[in-house]
Amino acid sequence: MSKQRVLEVKGLKTSFFTDDGEIPAVDDIDFYIDEGEILGVVGESGCGKSVTSLSIMGLLPKGIGKVVGGEILFRGENLVHATEKRMKEIRGNEIAMIFQEPMTSLNPLFTIGNQLIEAIRIHTDLNKKEARLRAIEMLKLVGLPRAEAIIDEYPHQLSGGMRQRVMIAMAMACRPAVLIADEPTTALDVTIQAQILKLMKDLNENFRTAIMMITHDLGVVAEVCQRVVVMYSGKIVEEGDVHTIFRRPKHPYTIGLIQSVPDIREKKERLYSIPGNVPKPGAITHGCRFAARCEHAFDQCLKETPQLYDLDGTGHRVRCFLHQREEESKSGRAVVAGEKS
Ligand SMILES: Nc1ncnc2c1ncn2[C@@H]1O[C@H](COP(=O)(O)OP(=O)(O)O)[C@@H](O)[C@H]1O
Ligand code: SF4
Ligand SMILES: [Mg+2]
Repeated sequence: MSKQRVLEVKGLKTSFFTDDGEIPAVDDIDFYIDEGEILGVVGESGCGKSVTSLSIMGLLPKGIGKVVGGEILFRGENLVHATEKRMKEIRGNEIAMIFQEPMTSLNPLFTIGNQLIEAIRIHTDLNKKEARLRAIEMLKLVGLPRAEAIIDEYPHQLSGGMRQRVMIAMAMACRPAVLIADEPTTALDVTIQAQILKLMKDLNENFRTAIMMITHDLGVVAEVCQRVVVMYSGKIVEEGDVHTIFRRPKHPYTIGLIQSVPDIREKKERLYSIPGNVPKPGAITHGCRFAARCEHAFDQCLKETPQLYDLDGTGHRVRCFLHQREEESKSGRAVVAGEKS
């Protein structure tokens, strides 16, 4: 069965324009998501994950954040040039998003029902009564007990995990083709986190919704994702299917991330053991951005910028000079060395 490419990001560059000048937060990234697929986007805080998702949704802070290059193709339509009217149609209808802290996206002044019913009515022809029934059905679908009562309660009456379920119900009410989940379980305790992940997986299986799962937690990736892109300092440094990434990680950054999670079923808030910090966007203009933290760094790494080398034709790509020769020898063709920078 051929898979449909539902979202394709090509050469995306997003910058912030501040008093200190242009901050290139996302710097030329490419990735795609197929229908029904769950793609993990991982990396430490500050790598550009949220900026990527806000770019796709057209929700960058106005006048400050801007897509300055590349394309965001939703079923072939370039959203970078879409009007605000079109983006409003897309958001919710076609691409929905859930955030880390659901309280910020729920209105504290309205009941769960008000908000969910409104979302359903915007996206369907259902009347108020039918929409209410659909809302109760959705709340049950996301595993909320007492759905008939919760529908008339206010957000503050629910726990964090329940609010996140409501957000998922709202996001799914319109059966979007893509759901972007930005650290959806980070604020939740481990048991609730597992339930929410299972719920998202079920929704993905039942409705074939493609999910872009943004997380700094490799445990989440192992649990739900089929493919992974690893981001570092605004760039993708490794990409591959989830088994390859966990069993044969190639980029020293990915290896470091995996090593710092000794037991992926353990508590989430474990500190990474990779020394140092993610550099500020734009701070490194020469060489590999990971060089200062990399135990394998050699001369070339400080002078040239590594490309994403394709290792074996299966979609495993790595941005590291250690693997440049691997690509050369496997493909039997000369590869242009890293860009001089
Ligand atoms: N509103 C903003 N103004 C200026 N810079 C920003 C803003 N939001 C994000 N950035 C920059 O973009 C970088 C990436 O941020 P973000 O995508 O939120 O990282 P994360 O991977 O943790 O989600 C940050 O390190 C910061 O330099
Ligand atoms: S290119 Fe060099 S510095 Fe960068 S990750 Fe590879 S070995 Fe380390
Ligand atoms: Mg973020």
